Amino acid sequence: MRIVAGEARGIRLAPVPEGVRPTTDRVREALFNSLGQFFDGGEVLDLYAGTGALGIEALSRGCDGATFIEKSGRTAAVILENLGRARFERRAEIIRGDVRGEVERLVREGREYHLIFADPPYRIAQSEIGEVLPLLMKLLAPGGRIVVESGDSLVAEQIPSAKVVSRRYGGTVVTIFEGSVPTMNVAICPGSFDPVTSGHLDVIRRASALFDHVVVAVGHNTRKKTSKLPADDRARLIEKVTKPLDNVSVEIMEGLLVNFAREQGARVVVKGLRAGSDFEAEFQQAQLNRTLYSDFETVFIMAAAEHSFLSSSAVREIASLGGSVKGLVPENILETVQSSYYEPMERPGSDGR
Ligand code: PNS
Repeated sequence: MRIVAGEARGIRLAPVPEGVRPTTDRVREALFNSLGQFFDGGEVLDLYAGTGALGIEALSRGCDGATFIEKSGRTAAVILENLGRARFERRAEIIRGDVRGEVERLVREGREYHLIFADPPYRIAQSEIGEVLPLLMKLLAPGGRIVVESGDSLVAEQIPSAKVVSRRYGGTVVTIFEGSVPTMNVAICPGSFDPVTSGHLDVIRRASALFDHVVVAVGHNTRKKTSKLPADDRARLIEKVTKPLDNVSVEIMEGLLVNFAREQGARVVVKGLRAGSDFEAEFQQAQLNRTLYSDFETVFIMAAAEHSFLSSSAVREIASLGGSVKGLVPENILETVQSSYYEPMERPGSDGR
């Protein structure tokens, strides 16, 4: 077996280990022809990797990096040997483990791949691929592709919404699932909204004029203390103040922002910036989010001058001490905010304490 094309073209791969049924050079060539021959960067994931020939071929044809998942230690050693022959060791990661468990972990870590190969040994039941496919869709970059090899035409019905093409090459059926490219420009406005202020509403309103749809994501900032109002109540207040905005919806966000964004089909997050002092923390979050989701963009909207001093923490403090937050929160939630955040001072009890 040899690498068919690209920078490592002609490199001979190590002998195929016993029990591994590799994709033949001929099928590999036809397969890559139908994928468009060469790639402009991107990450590839090679499941049930065997010799690693598919992932290595993708690296040779221009993918930036590859992750191989292989259960057998002996076979993983062959992948390493093949990566060495092609001089691709630095661009690859070999994970020794069970495909299902490792794929679940990659989803939890928010990884993203442009090309995913699944060439399971025949002894692996088709049902496992059926179970793994929906998880693979979560790992797929917009417009990315999952390529599944099998002995018969398969599983297309497992992902009814994906674009699917099946081709037969001799005794091998190759099915290609294509990830959708979001056509609607969806933006996420995340925050703890504890409570939503007039400043937040201004940013949400201005975002709703720029994007097709805005999802306000009510999250929990682990760096802050637990909110007095549960997320459901905070979301209800936002729903009330954004009611006139047709293209705004409100959701509770659990876990990572990037994962939530993927689920919502969004790759843009909108944040409000009040002053230079906000910038540092926001800059750090934007950079971190991009390391987790490379196509993710953070867009900043500058707070209106009259809101530049306004924060949820100031609203909480004033309301908790019984002061008026009129003008600081939208009028139609004023009463609820005043009463929900008010903390009556403790008076000495009748026992004189
Ligand atoms: O209103 P806040 O408190 O500034 O909102 C912060 C929030 C909830 C948007 C932020 O903590 C967040 O995105 N949390 C989700 C968890 C996450 O993705 N953390 C990594 C971001 S660096």
